[in-house]
Amino acid sequence: MSIPGASHDHLERILFEEEQILSRLDELAERITREYEGKPLTVVAVLHGSLMMMADLLRRIRLPLKMECLSVESYHGGVESSGSVKFNMTRMPELSGEHVLIVDDILDSGRTLEAITNKISSVCFPQSIRVAVLLDKKTTRETAVEPDYVGFEIEDLFVVGYGLDYQGRYRNLPLIGTLKPEYILPEHRS
Ligand code: IMP
Ligand code: MG
Repeated sequence: MSIPGASHDHLERILFEEEQILSRLDELAERITREYEGKPLTVVAVLHGSLMMMADLLRRIRLPLKMECLSVESYHGGVESSGSVKFNMTRMPELSGEHVLIVDDILDSGRTLEAITNKISSVCFPQSIRVAVLLDKKTTRETAVEPDYVGFEIEDLFVVGYGLDYQGRYRNLPLIGTLKPEYILPEHRS
């Protein structure tokens, strides 16, 4: 399905169509609903990349959950993980006694989610912490972080769409794909 006016023409290859993403979220939401039944659940969004997934996933979870957001920066505009994770908020969310599910767009080196889980467990006192990601780049992992819920595993490709950006753009694409080389700065091309 192609939507006139969307920037699909910047894409080289489509990896996941919108219908595929949403039907996978149906399955994850079903599992999450079952596994957190009767427990106080707070879902924490890692901004900005997880916004699309949050909106679609959370509307499929049939539990009275709470929602919080965390703002971190880890990529700084390139196509490779920078290694440093910066927290942009003035306060951490209130998560004491909650079962926390952290949602991020993609797990790459794992440094972002490692920093976030470490910080939440040391300053927020939750009952438990789990991680849900839409995409898992297993081969580029540099930490021990293991996601509890994964949408799709992908090879080591730089992808955009459905929340994922290149230099802040393409987050609004309803699908996920790779960019044509001409839309990637020469210094970022592999
Ligand atoms: P990590 O700390 O290396 O695991 O990187 C995680 C963050 O890097 C994600 O939250 C994304 O913002 C960004 N990232 C990693 N891979 C990609 C990609 O293929 N496209 C867009 N952003 C990515
Ligand atoms: Mg991100």
